[in-house]
Amino acid sequence: MVNLQSKLFTSLTADIDKYLTNSDLKPWKNSLRSNSYAEGFLALLSHKDINIIMTAQGYNTFNEWLFDVDNWSQKLLDPRNEYGKGAMVLYELWDVFRNNIMDAIRTARLHTNIPNRGGILAFVGGLSKCIVIEYLITSDYPRFTIIDVIDNPQSAFDFWGTISNAAMAAKNVLKEIISTGHKIILHRGILMHVDRRKDFQVFGPSVDTILLAEIQAQLFYENNLSKKRVLEIGCGNGLLSVSVAKYMVALNKIHSIDVNFHSIFCLYNNLSINITQHLLKKLDIYLTYGEFSNKFPNEKFDLIICNPPYIPNEPTVPEYLNKKVDYYQAVGGTELIAEILNNLDNLLSDDGELLLLVSNLSLDYTLNLIPYNYNYKLILENGHKVLFDVEAVLKKESWLNFLLTECDLIEENNLFYHNIYPILIKK
Ligand SMILES: C[S@@+](CC[C@H](N)C(=O)[O-])C[C@H]1O[C@@H](n2cnc3c(N)ncnc32)[C@H](O)[C@@H]1O
Repeated sequence: MVNLQSKLFTSLTADIDKYLTNSDLKPWKNSLRSNSYAEGFLALLSHKDINIIMTAQGYNTFNEWLFDVDNWSQKLLDPRNEYGKGAMVLYELWDVFRNNIMDAIRTARLHTNIPNRGGILAFVGGLSKCIVIEYLITSDYPRFTIIDVIDNPQSAFDFWGTISNAAMAAKNVLKEIISTGHKIILHRGILMHVDRRKDFQVFGPSVDTILLAEIQAQLFYENNLSKKRVLEIGCGNGLLSVSVAKYMVALNKIHSIDVNFHSIFCLYNNLSINITQHLLKKLDIYLTYGEFSNKFPNEKFDLIICNPPYIPNEPTVPEYLNKKVDYYQAVGGTELIAEILNNLDNLLSDDGELLLLVSNLSLDYTLNLIPYNYNYKLILENGHKVLFDVEAVLKKESWLNFLLTECDLIEENNLFYHNIYPILIKK
């Protein structure tokens, strides 16, 4: 993700430099506090002097500092101690991050049934770190503890992956968090809540979703590129739609559609958690339950976002898959990709763009379907490697073998991986 560093972070980094040399913290502090999509840890983690800053605080790494951040900030606030400017930068980043989480949890409690005690996965630093946090609400202000930091997470909701590496005490906390059935994810000031028991078969947020949300932030919000009319096809949990509604300043209208009824409710809840009443009233928001096909015969959009099902089917589709049961609908088959690409002229305005995510399993298929009058750009040239842990496939040996032998699914140490590719398509 480092190659996607863009203006905001360049300026944030420049401001960190400036602060380290001439003690002017204000511009940087203001930009961080006034844009909740701004993500200070990304600037810090990609800063050339991060090691110097950490060593000056007595830590070898960012993770080490983060695990001890409560102690560290106690000492910092003791007027008898003297700390350098690097410490003030760190404190500011930490304070913004902590306040973001506290506000998000408090607001979410007003709108949903999230429990008093649970876990949050906070994705920071592009996609370079996932901070596993336990929160506990006993009074107005939630308390929270950092349980683990996963570097370069290859799977979202990676609690299971985390458990095997975590310290004994953390293992128990993680197991308890999983058993609640509540999935809570924080990314760039947006808190997403999915209640696994109520939001039946709702997809994500997965690592794909967070990658796309990060790309939306870096491509559009940080560059002040705003679109007026946006369509998300297959909204699932809704992170991508919520982020557009919250951060795309010129937005008039967003339309989100999904064939899973529960997704529409999940998105509705997550809009209420993250978007103010004022903004909700200002925007035209349409939530549609149903199949995408032929739903938009007379409408054009300036941006279409889609994280479609992208796993190719075996040549002979087993009977049970034809019935579109369980999770298969969210991940299996490539028909939706074809349907969208075949309809681009009808769907996109003249300078409209499609941001589409596919896997190396279906990349060639997708590129071949792009109409001749459109250009495409692979935003990450070599893709982003993630765990392939799709139950529906892993349970079906013939499908798995087909993907391994015909579609370049990667097998390493008894685990499967694939590369995901965000693609921007426009005229
Ligand atoms: C891979 S999930 C992505 C969900 C979400 N946008 C995300 O990124 O986390 C694909 C979503 O597309 C929906 N879907 C699949 N086929 C569809 C169709 N023909 N019309 C509308 N939605 C569809 C599924 O129900 C699922 O929620």
